[in-house]
Amino acid sequence: MPTGDDRIAPRPPVNLHDWEESARRALGRDAFDYVAGGGGDEVTLRDNRAAFARWKVLPRVLRPGSGASLATEILGRPSALPIMVAPFAYQGILDPAGECATASAAAVAGAPMCVSTLANRSLEDIAKATGDGDRIFQLYAQKDEGVNVEMLARAREAGYRAVIVTVDLPPFGSRDRDTRSGFSIPADLGLPNIPPPPGHDGTLTPHDTSFLMNADMGWSDIERIVAEAGLPVVVKGILAPADAVLAAEHGAAGVIVSNHGGRQLDGVPATIDALEPVVQALSGRAEVWVDGGVRRGTDVLAALALGARAILIGRPVAWGLAAAGPAGVEAVLSTLASEFQTALTLGGVASPTEISREMVYPGRGSPA
Ligand SMILES: Cc1cc2nc3c(=O)[nH]c(=O)nc-3n(C[C@H](O)[C@H](O)[C@H](O)COP(=O)(O)O)c2cc1C
Repeated sequence: MPTGDDRIAPRPPVNLHDWEESARRALGRDAFDYVAGGGGDEVTLRDNRAAFARWKVLPRVLRPGSGASLATEILGRPSALPIMVAPFAYQGILDPAGECATASAAAVAGAPMCVSTLANRSLEDIAKATGDGDRIFQLYAQKDEGVNVEMLARAREAGYRAVIVTVDLPPFGSRDRDTRSGFSIPADLGLPNIPPPPGHDGTLTPHDTSFLMNADMGWSDIERIVAEAGLPVVVKGILAPADAVLAAEHGAAGVIVSNHGGRQLDGVPATIDALEPVVQALSGRAEVWVDGGVRRGTDVLAALALGARAILIGRPVAWGLAAAGPAGVEAVLSTLASEFQTALTLGGVASPTEISREMVYPGRGSPA
């Protein structure tokens, strides 16, 4: 018999979708929409999710030892999980400690933390919050090459293990929700990792940031960043197999099959559908990661079966952070890890590295 309290108090989140509802209650409508929204008609945003449902999992049974380990290797380093925190900007709008809160929770959960150029906390403070946990710096290359060189040096110095270079922005996609609401990031949150240009008053708005970014990058810039970084470089925002091959040819250690969570060009493929052609084109020349719409342990399983080494999640981490700070981030990551373990166990696989292509097939066909 439900009590009055049961009917009023929201129940604790049990899955990543519930965390989104918790964040909806915690955030103002405009801030929620800024995180949740996508580009254009949000076709790609919706398809990132819908496409996962089209891939079916074919489990194997009676295999002792299934689900024994979630550990894998990412860029040659051991990782407790094949699940990472995607780089996402302006975490100060979600929690006063911003990226530091996310980083400490990611370290506890065993998930590598990717840190955006547009973080509201400094690379050094976030590194401290991560402690022994793995961290990766995401570069939005700036027009001023000196700024890029300085950021890469700071990342190396602060123990970041790799550099992600995001290539599907600038400019920003058409984000109609934000245009309608007039939402803008409070400038006083601060962007300590990009120095304002000389003569600027010191507070950078998102408009300023896109003006400062290099909107005219080419493959020779990737080569230059690889040479400068002194760390493995991973190119984020790849959908075309030919671009994945070019990334490897220009020295990238990996690519991220990503459409920026459906926030940039609308109408591009869902990432889970774009993944396998990229994996095949690369045939092992670079590691492949994928993000966009991963919400369930079975999504992680499907992505790994189609050839990804690891997945990244963006919005679910934001929802956990907004609703419950670091405890929320930890809960989101451990919920996904635990669902993934169930998927491995019921799928008949001992560990991520043993997941095979035969475990998934497109829903409209039949299992091989
Ligand atoms: C609010 C928000 C801010 C983001 N900021 C960045 C960023 O600064 N750099 C970047 O490379 N990607 C950024 N992304 C894209 C994410 O890294 C990632 O590709 C995407 O969120 C994955 O999809 P998901 O949110 O469905 O998991 C952002 C995404 C969101 C939702």
